Amino acid sequence: MVIGKPLFTAQQIQKRIKELADEITEDYMGKELLAIGILRGAFMFFSDIVRNINTPLEIDFLIASSYVKTESTGEVKIHADLREDIKDRNVLLIEDIVDTGLTLKYIQEMLLSRSPASLKTCAFLDKKPCRKVDVKLDYVGFQIPDEYVVGYGLDYENKFRNLPYIAIFKKSI
Ligand code: IMP
Repeated sequence: MVIGKPLFTAQQIQKRIKELADEITEDYMGKELLAIGILRGAFMFFSDIVRNINTPLEIDFLIASSYVKTESTGEVKIHADLREDIKDRNVLLIEDIVDTGLTLKYIQEMLLSRSPASLKTCAFLDKKPCRKVDVKLDYVGFQIPDEYVVGYGLDYENKFRNLPYIAIFKKSI
């Protein structure tokens, strides 16, 4: 297994998060926000971005999975649902990476069926070349090519999540 050099360094990540958070703060001015993190991958991004959003907010989490090793199965499993009722609330969904779009599409539809006042999505990474279904993204950290990446919350078999940067992962050279 090989971890390449950083695709985005910790400094680049923090700079981009500040920009995104400023945009979100402005868009939600005067509104109360419920930020929902999709675990496990979004845990680091979630904690960094909510720290930089300057509007009253509450938090909640969903635990979902659809990946086995480096492949999307297309089947989304919800391991733990929200604790909050989202009806009539302004929900901001926070995801680590959008690849085929299947996971996010499933979760967005599930949340929309609960009648929130609004639903927006913020994804840290967008792997657009891999998209299989159209999915609405309101805020995106970085666009990336069709590569498997790890670090900053993202894993390979639950490893490398603790790296403070994003790097390309190869099973072998
Ligand atoms: P999708 O359903 O194909 O869009 O996949 C979304 C989920 O797969 C993400 O929430 C991640 O957990 C995982 N995933 C997709 N691409 C990568 C990657 O490059 N590295 C680590 N996890 C990934």
